[in-house]
Amino acid sequence: MQIETERLLLRPWKPEDLPVLAAINQDAHVSEFFLTPLTPELTEQAVLRYQTAHHHDGYGFLAAEHKASGELIGILGMQTMSLHIPGLPQPVVEIGWRLAYPHWGTGLATEGARAVIHYAFTVVHLPKVVAITSAINFRSRRVMEKLGMIHRTNLDFDHPQVTPGHALQKHVVYELGSTQ
Ligand SMILES: CC(C)(COP(=O)(O)OP(=O)(O)OC[C@H]1O[C@@H](n2cnc3c(N)ncnc32)[C@H](O)[C@@H]1OP(=O)(O)O)[C@@H](O)C(=O)NCCC(=O)NCCS
Repeated sequence: MQIETERLLLRPWKPEDLPVLAAINQDAHVSEFFLTPLTPELTEQAVLRYQTAHHHDGYGFLAAEHKASGELIGILGMQTMSLHIPGLPQPVVEIGWRLAYPHWGTGLATEGARAVIHYAFTVVHLPKVVAITSAINFRSRRVMEKLGMIHRTNLDFDHPQVTPGHALQKHVVYELGSTQ
């Protein structure tokens, strides 16, 4: 799976991406809503999981390259959700995004995610995609809203890996159907 937009190339991972992604993951802005800090070792394990899923499903979380500079600037893509969410019929595919801080606020996440959704509906022929985030991650929620995703309030849940009462415990579920 590879997707090109006006400003982005979403492509499979290369070994040289690892230190760049590790640095992005350790930036304090980017990691504000991480459940656990992502060390370089955890970044490497995550990329291995993205590659395995891509190999298995034919789609996955991809490397987001800024076309103008050729620089790796984050992660964008879709994957079969591994987390069980009460009330959500599964298997289901989730879309997701993470960008290097200097690139925030220029519409890149929305641009890339729009192309991922198009791919999900027209190439993979999925009936719907979902997205989840911590309830207080308003930036990410705004991206979901700009994509036309609907907040399924009945599916909001407490993340099982977050300590009860923690600010990141409450999570929201957004959904977009191919016919919406
Ligand atoms: C979430 C993320 C990918 C957004 O990237 P981005 O390129 O800035 O996204 P966009 O520019 O397409 O859209 C961001 C929107 O959020 C809005 N926004 C920014 N800060 C906000 C805030 N504190 N509250 C509400 N909305 C906010 C922006 O104004 C913009 O909306 P607009 O176009 O209507 O003005 C980026 O912030 C990121 O990588 N965050 C860290 C990782 C992360 O949280 N990933 C999601 C985990 S589920």
